[in-house]
Amino acid sequence: MNLLIGRRRILAGLAIFVSVFILGIGVASAEKRSTAQQPSSSSWRAQVAGQPTDYVGQDVCAGCHEDKAKQVSTTVHAHTVLAGASYDTGCETCHGPGKAHADAMGEAIGNAAKVEAAKKLIYGFHGKGEENSARCLACHEYGEEHSNFARSQHNVNDVACIDCHSAHHAKESQFLLVERQPVLCFSCHTEIKPEFSKPFHHRVNEGLVRCTDCHNQHGGFLTKQLRSTASQDQVCFKCHVEKAGPFVFEHPPVKTEGCVACHTPHGSSNPRLLRRSQVNLLCLECHTLTVDTSVPGLPSFHNQAAKYQACTMCHTQIHGSNFSNIFFK
Ligand code: HEC
Ligand code: HEC
Ligand code: HEC
Ligand code: HEC
Ligand code: HEC
Ligand code: HEC
Ligand code: HEC
Ligand code: HEC
Ligand code: HEC
Ligand code: HEC
Repeated sequence: MNLLIGRRRILAGLAIFVSVFILGIGVASAEKRSTAQQPSSSSWRAQVAGQPTDYVGQDVCAGCHEDKAKQVSTTVHAHTVLAGASYDTGCETCHGPGKAHADAMGEAIGNAAKVEAAKKLIYGFHGKGEENSARCLACHEYGEEHSNFARSQHNVNDVACIDCHSAHHAKESQFLLVERQPVLCFSCHTEIKPEFSKPFHHRVNEGLVRCTDCHNQHGGFLTKQLRSTASQDQVCFKCHVEKAGPFVFEHPPVKTEGCVACHTPHGSSNPRLLRRSQVNLLCLECHTLTVDTSVPGLPSFHNQAAKYQACTMCHTQIHGSNFSNIFFK
């Protein structure tokens, strides 16, 4: 179902890609996109240039790049060919019009200087991150998953599609990844890696949970590129549904500050991924009269004798309850 929608969007993208190409102007695509999906910046979008006669079609490329042609034919991009649009198929959908390059190469054989010059006549993805990504986004930005790439921390920091994906040298054939998760992510996010080696952690290294379950690597509206559930709730509810409520008696911080008020999302030295080594210290961050008068302090019988330190022994339903306003059951 999702896949079908994805395909349809990409096909729509293809149609627009072609119309932009034919008209030679960028506004056509902007008009056809719904306002909800307008990217924040369109100035760096690919300038799809040239006339139909500037393209030669994949067969000509294959004449000299046989290995590439074979390899591409085994990937999803082999099927991005549009019927009846010979000038907009195969290799040239990503590399742009290639006739000048093909012709020049034909005359350059054996002449190193001419070969170097002919290389510059085709787009070889040596540009800036945004420029490279724009090539891919010409087809891929038409879906919730990808339409916010422009505002992503990745794009802003010059991380491009081809830092994670490769059309020709993918290590993982699924999603054309240069490396599988989480190794891919750790290759840059070295600071995050130790968190998943702590005694208590979401089992990302073990393959049970993925970085991209919680983060949208392609960008979104929330901070830290966090995903939300389909109903726009916190990402944690996607798997921990029973914590979502609604409850007759809510414990406000669960909803207002979110799960990370008490838990570390990646890993922790403390059981239950708690931020504090002892539960009572966690609770007392808020339940002290001096901190915030809207949060009740402890009843006086809660002397900090051992009995009262294990708060959740009694307040067991700490995420909310339908039966007890003090979360006993
Ligand atoms: C007459 C032979 C010939 C044809 C036809 C040809 N190429 Fe090339 N191409 C070459 C050679 C030679 C190189 C340089 C290879 C090298 O440096 O290793 C090259 C390099 C490239 C590069 C790398 C450019 C860079 O900046 O590094 C790309 C991309 C490319 N070709 C794409 C294409 C595409 C797409 C087509 C079809 C539109 C095509 N080529 C047609 C011979 C050809
Ligand atoms: C989905 C987009 C896409 C398609 C389709 C595509 N390429 Fe590429 N190509 C790239 C990217 C991106 C690079 C830069 C290197 C990389 O990221 O792997 C590249 C690099 C190259 C290079 C430089 C050498 C290298 O291995 O990096 C050549 C040559 C090339 N492509 C030829 C072709 C030919 C020939 C076709 C058609 C058979 C083709 N490409 C189809 C995206 C594409
Ligand atoms: C930081 C790394 C990273 C960057 C940058 C990135 N991707 Fe991805 N992408 C991934 C990973 C990882 C997956 C696989 C997710 C999964 O396993 O569900 C993926 C999945 C995809 C998919 C297939 C699933 C889907 O959501 O449709 C497409 C298409 C895709 N990426 C295109 C792109 C394009 C186009 C760009 C650039 C605009 C890009 N990606 C940038 C890491 C990245
Ligand atoms: C001419 C349009 C077009 C361009 C340009 C293009 N793609 Fe794609 N791409 C497609 C289509 C169509 C699919 C198949 C979509 C599907 O299966 O839903 C696809 C699929 C993918 C997938 C998913 C692979 C999988 O296993 O599901 C990734 C990843 C991807 N493209 C990355 C890229 C990257 C990176 C670039 C730029 C270097 C790029 N694409 C450029 C049309 C394009
Ligand atoms: C090529 C390097 C690279 C790769 C690979 C990479 N990232 Fe990033 N990522 C960055 C950079 C650079 C930033 C921005 C600076 C920062 O926050 O560290 C960033 C930012 C982020 C952020 C936002 C952090 C914030 O403070 O807002 C998240 C979340 C993220 N990356 C997740 C991922 C995930 C998940 C993967 C694997 C699918 C991944 N990254 C792969 C380089 C990379
Ligand atoms: C269970 C959900 C979840 C998983 C799985 C997850 N993250 Fe996070 N990540 C979060 C949350 C929530 C935050 C925000 C923490 C905060 O605001 O205090 C975050 C923050 C980040 C940040 C911003 C820096 C920081 O520490 O605040 C980066 C970068 C990041 N994650 C990368 C990754 C990478 C890489 C992976 C996979 C190896 C990953 N995350 C797996 C939920 C997750
Ligand atoms: C993709 C599904 C998924 C998402 C999203 C997710 N979790 Fe989890 N979580 C799990 C699984 C599976 C376990 C069981 C861990 C295990 O047995 O290794 C778990 C366990 C936990 C535990 C208990 C650990 C223990 O020691 O008993 C806490 C606390 C937790 N998650 C908090 C969060 C928070 C906070 C978020 C949001 C930032 C979140 N989870 C998002 C799948 C998820
Ligand atoms: C006010 C602090 C607080 C907040 C906010 C909070 N938790 Fe917890 N959570 C705890 C404590 C304390 C425990 C340990 C309970 C115990 O020791 O029995 C716990 C335990 C858990 C556990 C493991 C045991 C169980 O009940 O399944 C999961 C999973 C969990 N929390 C998920 C979440 C999620 C998801 C959110 C956000 C919706 C969240 N928590 C918000 C304090 C909190
Ligand atoms: C991030 C701040 C925060 C943390 C941490 C926190 N609480 Fe709360 N708690 C609140 C707020 C706010 C209320 C709602 C007060 C009100 O009803 O006005 C509340 C209400 C309660 C109530 C119900 C009191 C009433 O009269 O309605 C109990 C019981 C409680 N918390 C116990 C705990 C325990 C046990 C912990 C530790 C596991 C804990 N809280 C951690 C903020 C926090
Ligand atoms: C032995 C069981 C027990 C333990 C352990 C316990 N409590 Fe309570 N707590 C209670 C009871 C019983 C009440 C209800 C008192 C009342 O109704 O007047 C209560 C009430 C509360 C209230 C509500 C106060 C109000 O004015 O509404 C808060 C907040 C609270 N406890 C926090 C904690 C914290 C934090 C800890 C751990 C440091 C803790 N409790 C440990 C039994 C316990």
